[in-house]
Amino acid sequence: SLTLINPPATTVKSYACQRRTPLKHHNTFLTDALEILAENAEFNENEGRSVAFRRSASVLKALPHVVRGMDDLKNLPCLGEHSVRVIKEILEDGTSSEVESTRQSEQYQAMKALTGVFGVGVKSADRWFREGLRRPLDLIHTGQKLNLAQQAGVQYYNDLNRPVTKREAVAISHIVEKAVNAVLSGAIITLMGGFRRGKEVGHDVDFLITHLEEGAEEGLMPKVLNWLEEQGLLLYQKTTRNSYLESKDGPARPPHNLDRFERCFSIFKLEKGKEGSGTSLNTSYDSGPSWRAVRVDLVVSPFSQFAFATLGWTGSKLFERELRRWAGQEKGMSLSSHALYDSKQQRYLRANSEEEIFAHLGLEYIPPSERNA
Ligand code: GTP
Ligand code: MN
Ligand code: MN
Repeated sequence: SLTLINPPATTVKSYACQRRTPLKHHNTFLTDALEILAENAEFNENEGRSVAFRRSASVLKALPHVVRGMDDLKNLPCLGEHSVRVIKEILEDGTSSEVESTRQSEQYQAMKALTGVFGVGVKSADRWFREGLRRPLDLIHTGQKLNLAQQAGVQYYNDLNRPVTKREAVAISHIVEKAVNAVLSGAIITLMGGFRRGKEVGHDVDFLITHLEEGAEEGLMPKVLNWLEEQGLLLYQKTTRNSYLESKDGPARPPHNLDRFERCFSIFKLEKGKEGSGTSLNTSYDSGPSWRAVRVDLVVSPFSQFAFATLGWTGSKLFERELRRWAGQEKGMSLSSHALYDSKQQRYLRANSEEEIFAHLGLEYIPPSERNA
């Protein structure tokens, strides 16, 4: 039959954690469009719809070729009716009317601008939008009551919306290393998030800090923050116990020593380095301040949880979500950035590396650079 002489169709597994997703792929003209709709669904607090668009986009990111026609979509998983309609329109007309009208809409633009302020979530942004506010400065002009995070968010709005470069991330790494080494010797500091996945820019810089000696990391976060504060390197910081992602999905954390696991959302004051001016033309006439604000996330983990924390803080967000969905739906397990719990065996599974966690989950190991789902 005809199918025998056709080249084999690209097969794509249905969970993002079963696939390799490189940073650069062939279908940004489609995935950007789908991700606008995903974002807009988030602004409308429609999580199901948002995840559906994100999963569709992610499948297209994993394809080794450009999608040129509807035939290329045959046998692909996760493509819902709505996503297929949008893709079809873009393939036929070059754009999707729904995507373009979303992009132009007052609500989308205002929500994008308002949630772009550090410390502002969808709920506050939506309330402000309905009160007629449109831009971050409207928050000041109309005298809105802002919490400390939001005050910092407005104050450093321009800097925080300028992408952080790899070079700036490295400069921040040196500062964090210096701070940690000043208060505890032998700590291990690892760059997480987008930069670990190979991104060249990010919205922040993420670090995971641990120590080979279990327990040595206790109390580290406040000491590091004090040191940074004394050096005048912190513009804002808020430390919290880590409970996000863990709250909903059951017992995926050992009942003990959770309280040692701390995270800090912060804003660093980064001096503009002389090394940055080499080939660029913007610095010589730059009359602005000699520093910029950079969002930095710090996480401290006991060594026994380090592999789980590493996997949990590398991302991408969709990859993490899909890992937890795979664990729950396919394996009867519960994964968090602290632990992996096997419901059948009713016990926690230990792991000393990310590879071991993938193995426990029955998944092929995917390196960080291919977790850009
Ligand atoms: P950019 O920063 O935009 O370049 O992308 P990123 O992938 O680094 O995103 P982000 O810094 O927001 O998150 C990095 C990783 O940390 C992602 O895998 C998130 O899922 C994860 N993450 C973010 N916040 C939390 C949290 O509160 N708890 C846990 N466990 N993970 C989180
Ligand atoms: Mn990040
Ligand atoms: Mn982050």
